[in-house]
This record gives sequence, structure tokens and C-alpha cells, in this order.
Amino acid sequence: MPSFSFTRAQVALSTFAMISLVSNLVYASPTESPPLRRATICNGSPDLCSRGFGNVTFVGAHDSYAVGTNNIFATQDYNITQQLNDGIRMLQMQAHNSSGVIHLCHTSCSLLDGGTLQAYLTTVKAWLDANPNEVLSLLIVNSDTLPPSSYDTVFKAVGLDTMSYSPPSSSLLESNWPTLGSLIDSGTRLITFMDSNANFNSVPYIIDEFTNIWETAYDVTTSFDCNVNRSNANTPTATSMYLINHFLDTLVLGQPAPDPSQANQTNAVTGSNSLGEQFSLCTGQQGRNPNFMLVDFYEYGGGSVFEVAATANGVTYSPATPIATPGGTGSTSPSATSSSLNLSFSRWSSVWVVIGSIAFGAFYI
Ligand SMILES: *[C@@H]1O[C@H](CO)[C@@H](O)[C@H](O)[C@H]1NC(C)=O
Ligand SMILES: *[C@@H]1O[C@H](CO)[C@@H](O)[C@H](O)[C@H]1NC(C)=O
Ligand SMILES: *[C@@H]1O[C@H](CO)[C@@H](O)[C@H](O)[C@H]1NC(C)=O
Ligand SMILES: *[C@@H]1O[C@H](CO)[C@@H](O)[C@H](O)[C@H]1NC(C)=O
Ligand SMILES: *[C@@H]1O[C@H](CO)[C@@H](O)[C@H](O)[C@H]1NC(C)=O
Ligand SMILES: *[C@@H]1O[C@H](CO)[C@@H](O)[C@H](O)[C@H]1NC(C)=O
Repeated sequence: MPSFSFTRAQVALSTFAMISLVSNLVYASPTESPPLRRATICNGSPDLCSRGFGNVTFVGAHDSYAVGTNNIFATQDYNITQQLNDGIRMLQMQAHNSSGVIHLCHTSCSLLDGGTLQAYLTTVKAWLDANPNEVLSLLIVNSDTLPPSSYDTVFKAVGLDTMSYSPPSSSLLESNWPTLGSLIDSGTRLITFMDSNANFNSVPYIIDEFTNIWETAYDVTTSFDCNVNRSNANTPTATSMYLINHFLDTLVLGQPAPDPSQANQTNAVTGSNSLGEQFSLCTGQQGRNPNFMLVDFYEYGGGSVFEVAATANGVTYSPATPIATPGGTGSTSPSATSSSLNLSFSRWSSVWVVIGSIAFGAFYI
């Protein structure tokens, strides 16, 4: 091993040089803002960097984890990585307490279990890491009213707590959200909303949904409207963000169930009961665009849902890669499994599943 020895003077001189260098770097221009990365492309467009988060229209996947082709409770055909690659920017999910572990299930974990929240968020984290100029929202339905600390534990385990945006107060008007550029620059690109039991004082980045966002009706089986359906009574609906539930269900034994057979038309840019039609209706009625548009089987329509959002945002719709083909790969790589019922026959012949869920007493699509 070679050895080095320095005189006291040499050490003092080099230490001084290093201190000067470092302080020059740090203090060179104290009047300038800190050396933040300045995003020039935000969510796919340079035009969106200066736009407030509350002034952008995002497409969301309703029950994003409910992937599978042979399950009447499935609402999506593709896994969340594919959803995100294709342009989904809000992931909605139902969280349940399954023997003390948070699982993402549809109605009940015995009917459709999309796996643990931790596995799901690990995928989300990997995608965010690979896509540093994207702002993403989560919308958690806290089905078993678990405390925010339970979610905080999982977010910390996967490293998403530090990527999460904490607002300055528990509710923000549409115009008070930071710009996409600043969310990206500060590395807090994940915005998480929860429908019940959020607590700003314990976990500020798990944001209460209904004091920030109101929703139109869900489980629609006829036609979509734009009336305030779910909100917090104290929330100013005229100046808060809003979400449209744009997934058309069909009645199976009197219960609403996802219906891919209508999805091409439901997701379309124009036509009766299309996303474009509800979008225009809402924009006219509310005087501004919806912030979030939740859809089922998002790829039906061949990208039409993203086209509606791009037009809303005043940007050109030009997907980098072709979006997934309607129908999906759910049958070959299902992420959803059923623990007590095997759903290995066609979606529409599985009416007994519905009977089972009615017996369960908690039908909640
Ligand atoms: C997600 O789906 C895509 C195909 O759409 C597939 O290539 C990929 O392997 C899937 N990822 C996981 C984790 O299953
Ligand atoms: C979650 O479920 C387990 C039993 O499965 C129960 O012991 C625990 O108290 C539940 N947690 C909450 C917060 O309700
Ligand atoms: C929400 O919509 C459903 C379905 O249209 C309706 O039955 C319910 O009364 C509505 N609730 C409110 C508060 O508007
Ligand atoms: C939806 O449209 C695609 C082509 O864009 C077509 O292949 C598919 O059969 C249609 N599905 C239904 C249920 O109409
Ligand atoms: C964003 O602002 C523009 C211009 O005021 C408005 O037309 C649009 O509706 C807003 N979008 C949302 C989602 O608030
Ligand atoms: C359920 O169906 C799958 C095929 O979809 C099969 O591989 C599996 O063995 C079945 N499980 C049970 C318990 O029957």
C-alpha cells in the first residue's frame, strides 16, 4: 500500500482551498434562487409546466388494480404500468383491511383481490422514478376507514412519502394548487387523496378528497350528468376541483356491474353518452373543465379518453407509443385473483358471483 504524508501547511492550504471552493459554490450568488432543476416538459408538454395542478384535466383509471378478463368485478384490462405508460394520471383504488394488511379489492377481497397496497405502490414508485417529469395522483377509497398512519407506514416502506406533496392546509381551492413545474422541480410529484378518515395533522400528504374535490354520480347505468353528487357540505363547489365518474355500468341481477361491451362508445370523443359529451356538458354547466375523468377499460376507444384530455388542456394529442389494444392481456397475465371463488368462465355468465356478492351484503362498484 502506498502511503502519503503531508506537511501541516499543505493540509491547511488544501483545506482552505476546499472551503473556498465549496463556499463559492454555495454562496456565489445569494440573491438567486436555489439551484433547482427547472422542468421544461411537464406531463408530456412544455405548455403544462406553468399550469396549476388544479387547472389541468387528467384521465383516471377507476378501480385501477381491478385487472382481469374473467371476472365480473374487473374494471380494467391492463396493469398499472401499462395504464401509466398509456397516459392514465390518476389511479383510483379501493383499499381494504385483509387480515391486518392493506389489500386493493373490489367490493370484497373474496371477490376480487388485486394484491397488497405495498406491491402496488412499489410499481407506482418504479414508474415515477423512470418518468421524472410526470405528476401523478392517487385516489384511495378507504373502505375500512383505516387510520392514515396505516397508509403512511406503507408509503414509507416503498419510499413514496418523500415523493408526496403536502399542501399548506387541509383544503385548497382549484386556483391555489402549485404548478406542475414546481411539483416536478421539488420532487413531490405524487398527490394522494383519500375519501374518508384523512387527517392533515397526522399525515399531511394523505389529502382529504371531499374538501378538495367534489364528484358527479357514480354507478351510472343510463346517462351521465354534471350535478354535484358527493362533496363536503362546507366545500365551495364553484371554486374547488371536480371529478367526473365516466364509467357506464350495466345492471346484472339489479346490481351495477362494469360493462366493456359499451366501452368504445362510453370512452369516445363524440356521440351519445361519450366522454366528450359529458365533458362538454360539465364544462358548460360548471364554467370550467373537469379536473379528473375516471374511466373503465381506458384503452377502449383507442386513446379517445386521452384525446379528450389533451383537447381540454389545449395540447396536441400525440402518444409516444401506440396505446394498448382493446381487450387486453388480463387473461394471460392476471394480476387479480380470487381467493374463494374461481372466476374462470366468461364475465357475463358469472352471474353467480353477483349472487354471492349480494349475499355478502356490501355490493360496492
Ligand atoms: C404489465 O403489462 C405489460 C403488457 O401490457 C407487460 O409487458 C408487463 O410485463 C406487465 N407488468 C407486470 C409487472 O406484470
Ligand atoms: C384489520 O383487521 C385485523 C384483523 O383481520 C384487525 O385485528 C385490525 O384491528 C384491523 N385494523 C383496523 C385498523 O381496523
Ligand atoms: C347521487 O347520485 C345518485 C344516482 O344518480 C342519486 O341516487 C343520489 O341521490 C345522488 N346524491 C346526491 C347527494 O345528489
Ligand atoms: C371496440 O373497438 C375496437 C376497434 O377500435 C374493436 O376491435 C372492438 O371489437 C370494439 N369492441 C366492442 C365491444 O365494440
Ligand atoms: C384552466 O384554465 C382555463 C382558462 O381559464 C379554463 O378554460 C379551464 O377550464 C381550466 N381547466 C381546469 C381543469 O380548471
Ligand atoms: C382457477 O382457474 C385457473 C384458471 O383460470 C386455474 O389455473 C386454477 O387452478 C383454478 N383454481 C381453482 C381453485 O380451481
